[in-house]
Amino acid sequence: MKFVFFGAPGAGKGTMASRASTAFGLPHISTGEIFRGAMREGTPLGLQVKAVIESGGLVSDELTIGLVRERLAKDDAAGGWLLDGFPRTIAQAEALASFCPEDHVIDLQVSDAKVIERLSGRRMCKGCGRIFHTRFMPPSKPGICDDCGAALYTREDDREESVRVRLENYRGQTMPLVDYYTARGTLVSVDGEADADAVWADLRAVMEGLIAAEKA
Ligand code: AP5
Ligand code: MG
Ligand code: ZN
Repeated sequence: MKFVFFGAPGAGKGTMASRASTAFGLPHISTGEIFRGAMREGTPLGLQVKAVIESGGLVSDELTIGLVRERLAKDDAAGGWLLDGFPRTIAQAEALASFCPEDHVIDLQVSDAKVIERLSGRRMCKGCGRIFHTRFMPPSKPGICDDCGAALYTREDDREESVRVRLENYRGQTMPLVDYYTARGTLVSVDGEADADAVWADLRAVMEGLIAAEKA
């Protein structure tokens, strides 16, 4: 089944998509992670997108759509996928609908206050990309990833000024997709405000229901 994880910066898309990927055996495809991986490796793609990402801007539709289209054509995506961070403009949503239409869009709803709290304490693993939080999901040893032992870092775009730009872009360019997907009948809202285990329990039940309905 094909799921889009949708929501504000810091809503928990990456955290929940990672759990869902393990639980349902679907590949987790995060455009943000693809870009950050390219930036870490210093590839031409990484060099091209670094400045715009670090300042909180959006990468061009043309580049992002091409990248996702290629990724969804790989073998592991043939049986379904979890898209995280794409689409985030109407042009991207229309492109996806044309080459690989979604079954469901999970809209993780969180308040602005939570978004700020979550982004300001987020730490990412340099090695495997696992997501931590200094208060809500602390690693066992401060600054070290539980899974791979690599160092944790703070995302450049989690600085206050970049977060402000990301939230503006979310409101201006991405929120209109709520109406777009409501009209397509694929939008499912999930309350993302509670702690991670509680959100995951709700989300898991919702996804199981959608998968069961598809099989029935
Ligand atoms: P992207 O990486 O997609 O960033 P984003 O959408 O801003 O979302 P985040 O990754 O910040 O938040 P999240 O919802 O994944 O939250 P997380 O699970 O980490 O994109 C980055 C940039 O790349 C963009 O700004 C743009 O430049 C570019 N880009 C990417 N896709 C693009 C596209 N399609 N088009 C154009 N440009 C694109 O959780 C946040 C924190 O909260 C973590 O610390 C976590 O541990 C904690 N947490 C999570 N859930 C809970 C919970 N329930 N309770 C307590 N803490 C929680
Ligand atoms: Mg993310
Ligand atoms: Zn790691």
